[in-house]
Amino acid sequence: PAWRATVLTLFPEMFPGPLGLSLSGQALEAGLWSLNTVFIREFGLGRHRAVDDSPAGGGAGMVMRADVLAAAIDHARTAEPDMPLIYMSPRGEPLSQALAAELAAGPGVMLLAGRFEGVDERVIAARQMREVSIGDYVLSGGELAAMVLMDACVRLLPGVMGASASLSEESFENGLLEYPQYTKPREWEGRAIPDILLSGDHAKVAKWRRQQAERITAERRPDLIGGKG
Ligand code: ADE
Repeated sequence: PAWRATVLTLFPEMFPGPLGLSLSGQALEAGLWSLNTVFIREFGLGRHRAVDDSPAGGGAGMVMRADVLAAAIDHARTAEPDMPLIYMSPRGEPLSQALAAELAAGPGVMLLAGRFEGVDERVIAARQMREVSIGDYVLSGGELAAMVLMDACVRLLPGVMGASASLSEESFENGLLEYPQYTKPREWEGRAIPDILLSGDHAKVAKWRRQQAERITAERRPDLIGGKG
């Protein structure tokens, strides 16, 4: 049963975009996941297919209409009734490796990519959307955030990553940042590969990597230590 992603957007031509290439693109072609878009404009009102209007109470910009979004969501839900519905928003719960794993373990996702100043609060409540942020900065729309979330999920799907060992050893799978990696040549611009990595002693290599991962995490992201990862 393939994992399914649906994105509600005003810019369906942005998809699959980078997700059509490399690992996620190969998995898409292999049928390990699917990506569909719903063009919100098709549910717009009047001759101009309006999807937004000025904010109640005044202020700059435009707000996406609850009625238009609900029509798009309800249409998408007839095809995909059981998907978690997620609004990509800087005010959402932070995307983490744990959340990506949780979503990858389910049937798929339905993602609302907003534009303008945001969406009418009532549709978030009425359609029980979960809100997810990809970080503390503001993008010009939710599409790139939706792609980030999908990429983080897709690479966790069974059969997508060749060597599943490279999954379990990587950053955040163990709550630490990645240890340093090296490959040939053995010496480059006067810098040698650490001897221990060439020793063939797997236990020593594993111990060294663990120490390096802990050192780098302590230096760069002390907030990750002793936390949830
Ligand atoms: N839309 C705009 N900015 C965003 C962010 N940081 N995360 C998720 N969705 C967004």
